[in-house]
Amino acid sequence: MTMKNRPHPRPSHPRRNAAIVGTGAYLPERVLTNAELEKMVDTTNDWIITRTGISERRIAAADEFTSDMGAAAARMAIAKAGISPTDIDLVILATSTPDTIFPSAACRIQHMIGATRAAAFDLQAACSGFLYGMIIAEQFIASHAHETVLVIGSEKLSSIVNWEDRNTCVLFGDGAGAAIMQAAPEGKRGLLATDMGSDGAQTDILHMPAGGCRMPITPEVLAQKKNSIHMSGKEVYRYAVGAMNASAERSLQLSGLSAADLQWVIPHQANLRIISSVTERLGVGMDRVILNLERYGNTSAACIPIALHESSESGKIKAGDNLLLVAFGGGLTWASAVLEW
Ligand code: ACO
Repeated sequence: MTMKNRPHPRPSHPRRNAAIVGTGAYLPERVLTNAELEKMVDTTNDWIITRTGISERRIAAADEFTSDMGAAAARMAIAKAGISPTDIDLVILATSTPDTIFPSAACRIQHMIGATRAAAFDLQAACSGFLYGMIIAEQFIASHAHETVLVIGSEKLSSIVNWEDRNTCVLFGDGAGAAIMQAAPEGKRGLLATDMGSDGAQTDILHMPAGGCRMPITPEVLAQKKNSIHMSGKEVYRYAVGAMNASAERSLQLSGLSAADLQWVIPHQANLRIISSVTERLGVGMDRVILNLERYGNTSAACIPIALHESSESGKIKAGDNLLLVAFGGGLTWASAVLEW
């Protein structure tokens, strides 16, 4: 084991803006279509598309874990940023499906990618996790404590879905996205404003009851499938629209920009109807919204970094564009960020 962590100076430099300087994504090969789900539970392709906007999702292989997918996305982000793994000071992995409760999957990824100088930890904020991670990374960079932070969202949600529950199994998928963050390069403004929050009074509307110390795994727990996602869809839906909208408004106001200044909105990809309600309230047309839920479903913390990577690679998002990222998830948690790409 190498013990080469950089000392953390506390220089009296003014705060500096952080920026994303490289992105990556990984999606498992296996595609699970709505037609296949029709054979597994009492549902129809038409119901899933009209109620959610999802056509298909990816499912990780039995021997493919959150750390494997996260490491693959991270390697791509490292290459895109043109850095070496040993440049990384900190690895933050946002996930609700770590390989093991401990040690963290972030530590596994740190080893897999050779980020030998980095500290590493998992972050649990459900679907808001990637934005929470980005906001934490920003603090280390702005304060000059760190130069390079790797933020990953990686999820193997298929491992905690009850495949007999039509209320939830049609919604989720597996995948990973990653971003390298550093001080904004000369001429780029990077992150302009952020917002994050939570409401712990709402823990029971979206949760996995068993598997933690409250309800350890027993044969009874397994028989009742309590080690899987439980959700009150309607309540989550209502809460999601209000919280995402309020957070987005706060970030926009802090950034000094208005909705008209945004080239793109990248929302958490849970449900097309939630996304259109939020963007309509903001006054942003769907032609300025990045979507991938039709192909991947809800990959929780991985949604936003996957969408960021794909849309910058395809040339949809261009240098200088103003972006609004906004997410909502179990906890309940929410977060948003306004940045110049
Ligand atoms: N196929 C067919 N029928 C279904 C299915 C399905 N897959 N799922 C539910 N139904 C039925 C219900 O049983 C209900 O039937 P009933 O009226 O006989 O009881 C009927 O469809 C309508 O159900 P609703 O709950 O009214 O459907 P709704 O329009 O609210 O859509 C949905 C359900 C898609 C789950 C929606 O509520 C939603 O998207 N909620 C938010 C979910 C979300 O975003 N979760 C992730 C948050 S992120 C995170 O942290 C993981």
